[in-house]
Amino acid sequence: PDRVGQPRKRVLLAKPRGYCAGVDRAVVTVEKALETYGPPVYVRKEIVHNRHVVETLSERGAIFVDDTDEVPEGALVIFSAHGVSPEVHADAKRRNLRTIDATCPLVTKVHQEAKRFARDDYDILLIGHEGHEEVEGTAGEAPEHIQLVDTAEDAAQVEVRDPAKVIWLSQTTLSVDETMERVAQLRERFPELQDPPSDDICYATQNRQVAVKAMAGECDLVLVVGSQNSSNSKRLVEVALQAGARAARLIDYAHQIDEDWLAGVDTVGVTSGASVPDILVMQVLRWLSERGWGEVEEITTANEKIAFALPRELRKDLVR
Ligand code: F3S
Repeated sequence: PDRVGQPRKRVLLAKPRGYCAGVDRAVVTVEKALETYGPPVYVRKEIVHNRHVVETLSERGAIFVDDTDEVPEGALVIFSAHGVSPEVHADAKRRNLRTIDATCPLVTKVHQEAKRFARDDYDILLIGHEGHEEVEGTAGEAPEHIQLVDTAEDAAQVEVRDPAKVIWLSQTTLSVDETMERVAQLRERFPELQDPPSDDICYATQNRQVAVKAMAGECDLVLVVGSQNSSNSKRLVEVALQAGARAARLIDYAHQIDEDWLAGVDTVGVTSGASVPDILVMQVLRWLSERGWGEVEEITTANEKIAFALPRELRKDLVR
């Protein structure tokens, strides 16, 4: 109960949060492919890094595989939002697979930059997380020109052929602040380091970080809805902590919230990664409301209007 002078229980809800245009397009691509061609529809890797999305699509007949060699000859395979290297396209072609490419157009943009600067014989320093599918796809565009820079040690050690001809590019879902630190560190060593022609960290990643920063300072706990393998969701936890949240946790589902986390907590911040359907956020709000955190204030730092057309290979078969 509210008493005079007592802080009250409340929820701050970040906006923008959740689905970005690239995720929406990728998920709808699998749904429409299932409707149009019927199951099974194969998907190489998780279409987007979210457990709930992958489980729901699996129930509807999507079969997630790790690589194209698991797809039967001649079958239909969809490439995930994170993008694939040219080698994967070539493999699929060799095995006669029908393909639909659900790579986010903003990832494709980074691939184009990689190709262009490799053609001009630059050394490309790709800032990103080792082992992430997007980085594997981008680096695969020009393996002989691209070196991955993940940690501060990588930035301290990487060598280039000609310091006058070096450019950095990045994964789309990094922490903006951490990336700028990495760039500053690289520029220290290579003063002529060129910036990418436009931001590689995408609008959705940037907007979600700005939104969580705007509320983190007031939060005793920030709950980020997202999966463990989701880069942009994990970054939201880090950004919340750096921006002053006393604690921050990554959860897939409301039932993973531990009641102990709420001891002594007045203000709970809630946000979600770019691959997270809003229904999961609503379930978290319901869980909180049942325990006394029923007052919700949305903190809006941007209104997103961007949408992407479905892949051409699919569009041509859709009945209007
Ligand atoms: Fe694309 Fe950014 Fe979403 S790269 S898939 S719009 S997180």
